[in-house]
Amino acid sequence: MTDASPNPPPPLTAAFRAAFGPGATRLVRAPGRVNLIGEHIDYCGLPVLPMAIPPAAWLLLRPRADGLVRLADCAPGYPPREFRLEREIPPAPPGDWGNYPRAAAQALIGRFGELRGFDAVLCSRIPAASGLSSSSALVVAVALALLDVNRLDLPAESLAELLALGERYVGTRGGGMDQAIILGARPGAAARVGFAPLRLEHVRVPGAWRILVASSLVSARKSGPARRAYNLRPREAVEALAIVAAHVGGPADYVRLLGLHGVERLLEAGQTLLPPTLARRFRHVVTEAARVDAAVAALIAGDLAGLGALLGASHRSLRDDLEVSRPELDELVARAVDAGAAGARLTGAGFGGCIVAVADAAAEPGVRAALAEGFYRPRGVADATPHLFSVDPAGGAGVGPA
Ligand code: GLA
Repeated sequence: MTDASPNPPPPLTAAFRAAFGPGATRLVRAPGRVNLIGEHIDYCGLPVLPMAIPPAAWLLLRPRADGLVRLADCAPGYPPREFRLEREIPPAPPGDWGNYPRAAAQALIGRFGELRGFDAVLCSRIPAASGLSSSSALVVAVALALLDVNRLDLPAESLAELLALGERYVGTRGGGMDQAIILGARPGAAARVGFAPLRLEHVRVPGAWRILVASSLVSARKSGPARRAYNLRPREAVEALAIVAAHVGGPADYVRLLGLHGVERLLEAGQTLLPPTLARRFRHVVTEAARVDAAVAALIAGDLAGLGALLGASHRSLRDDLEVSRPELDELVARAVDAGAAGARLTGAGFGGCIVAVADAAAEPGVRAALAEGFYRPRGVADATPHLFSVDPAGGAGVGPA
């Protein structure tokens, strides 16, 4: 893990004083992430290719002698929350932001037993409900704070695995991509994240490439309305896998089955054996896994056009086979590519949130202008800056002195 970067948001200190008085001693930073490719397959155990981004969640804190956690948020609309670090932490109502800190605490209590708490102010610069992992960044930040306050340590991979399961406390059946990249990212690189056991292979992103993120302006709150739709996808993937594995003879495990039979054979089996919806879900999983490997090769070869084509294919698969896109996301993707991006796709869970586009430096201004004029202005957004930005791959989460 890298140290907390030296640029915390300015309101942190004043907000801490206002909420808890003087004496904050520690600072935690947990970045958001954008997934380049490998969408909705981490929960199948298949490798994905995300990178951390500069916008981060920050916690400024002061340890407590007892087992209370008190949290205030810099942003309006997020009232203060507090809870006790007990063996079974009762959840707040579904959708309450206080469930993410509770999820982290519950996971660590399960692992370490009794813990001391802290008073902290949270300032997150990661747009919420945008598919950029603002929630997992909060979970990771609280976990790092608790470990730090209690002078405990866990290797980044073990912590990521623990928190990926721990986040299910909020009711979503996610995979392990977000926690892994938030904790393990390196500046300048994306990572091929493989699972069981968790393993990150860092792949440099060529400095001349531009990675653009653009919001659809449609909220994709996974703890809210998108939860049912999101949770259905892992179930369908497992159901499809069981049928295909039983037929071709092999383990009900996507990684091993792909290794044994290869993409083509499995696709063929899926098309003949599965009912139409499951066949499409299965085709997404199997083809997306192949695109991740191809994307890693394109990054290594510096092949921007190749990566762009893979992003386009991924988006079509998410739109048509997995059915997690929306017209706004499709429009952003089309406009970005028409304006000269090498490729674009929805990123994160979908149902709203953001797209990611890749472009060379010369094409970037044209892509930005096309989205600002063609997508945002007609929707009454005169200044697209908060919704449309480029990101350099950032380093992973860290904790240090305030
Ligand atoms: C969410 C989950 C991840 C992953 C993505 C889709 O972000 O938290 O684990 O499943 O959706 O790729």
